[in-house]
Amino acid sequence: MEKQDFKKRVYIEDLHKHLGQEVIIAGWLYNKRSSGKIHFLLVRDGTNIIQCVAAKGEVPEVVFTLYEKLAFESSMLIKGKVTEDKRSPLGFELQVSDLLVLQVPPEEYPITKKEHGIEFLMDHRHLWLRSRKQFAVLRIRHEIVSAIRDFFNERNFILIDTPIFTPAACEGTSTLFETEYFGSNAYLTQSGQLYAEAAALAFGKVYCFGPTFRAEKSKTRRHLTEFWMVEPEVAFFDLDDDMKLAEDFISYIVQRVLERREMELEILERDVSKLVNVKPPFPKISYTEAVKILHDKGTQDNSPQFEWGNDFGGTDETVISEQFDRPVIVHRYPSAVKAFYMKRDPQDERVALAMDVLAPEGYGEIIGGSQREDDYDALLKRIEEHKLPRQAFEWYLDLRRYGSVPHAGFGLGIERTVAWICGIPHIRETIPFPRTIYRLTP
Ligand code: 4AD
Ligand code: MG
Repeated sequence: MEKQDFKKRVYIEDLHKHLGQEVIIAGWLYNKRSSGKIHFLLVRDGTNIIQCVAAKGEVPEVVFTLYEKLAFESSMLIKGKVTEDKRSPLGFELQVSDLLVLQVPPEEYPITKKEHGIEFLMDHRHLWLRSRKQFAVLRIRHEIVSAIRDFFNERNFILIDTPIFTPAACEGTSTLFETEYFGSNAYLTQSGQLYAEAAALAFGKVYCFGPTFRAEKSKTRRHLTEFWMVEPEVAFFDLDDDMKLAEDFISYIVQRVLERREMELEILERDVSKLVNVKPPFPKISYTEAVKILHDKGTQDNSPQFEWGNDFGGTDETVISEQFDRPVIVHRYPSAVKAFYMKRDPQDERVALAMDVLAPEGYGEIIGGSQREDDYDALLKRIEEHKLPRQAFEWYLDLRRYGSVPHAGFGLGIERTVAWICGIPHIRETIPFPRTIYRLTP
């Protein structure tokens, strides 16, 4: 073989089409072991891992002796015959006939099979991405993103890309990232919602999907400073319609991953029995009913009483969601703890027509949404109460001046959804290069 033969390579994920044939694969050494007479090379190429078997006497002696030289993550081309192997997870292996080493790392690969601390792994995130667990998580993330696009595209939603540089806050002023913008100030977007609202009144049903930024000073397993959010927004839509869309949406995503990412879920040892129930309808309870659950629970373990009017913390959400076998939708939160743009419930002005979807197994809020205030005077009053700069919101008020209609939408956080579906405890492994209060590298 020569270096240029990588042009003839076949991906491991396609090898089943080549059973009995001699092929070339191109990849990296993931692991190796030897019995002396037979060498076993585990080779990964990004699509999967395959065991390559080199038996003494059956491969040229020069190739056979290369084994000693091969360090982890050496890059190489391997030629061999695809043969059935019922014991391997893949169902087949490669009987090596030739091997060409492209590069052997001059130093030991930093990530070894032993346990590493999380900070070490995060510092080596650019290499850590090559490991089996990250392979599974990020391929599931890919599937989730692809399911999201399919869901909205199948329903004729129009994708509207919203700006990253914005003149004003959407989700409260305390988590804004500020940046200098040609002599004035701009903020990195916290949510595309306000722009999606403008687009919904232009296109009927839309979604935006992009990175969002929040200067979260809290260091929790649920918070990043840069995360991805998908936000549908629909004209002539109320809170009930919004909740229905959310449960259909989440069910679609989960069922798609179960269907297409069996291997990845298995690598993660995910208990999929916890996901099969994720089908509509989801239980729907009001905030007030959720508080009652906390009170009943609190009475059992003597914890201090949760006060009506407060926002739920992570543990509160866990207690509430533990009562159900699928995500639960909590609606009608106290308006005081929610954003300025949410419509008040005409039946009870103390609460907003808001809803959060809480994922089970302690994962908590993955969706936040609401019906929007569509009355000009009420919205202006909220902007003033929240001490937001009116001038920056004049365009947003225009949406209530010209053809205002009931409308609603929500935002789903991609990383929290990935963490839940993968069953991994911390959000930092759900995005290729996480950004948190303490991490801007690599
Ligand atoms: O509940 P949030 O703040 O809602 C909004 O931004 C609305 N404007 C959405 C809308 O109605 N169009 O955020 C929505 C979701 C949360 O439920 C959570 O999944 C995720 O975004 N999220 C975060 N994910 C990771 N790190 C953070 N710091 C997050 N903050 C919110
Ligand atoms: Mg929220």
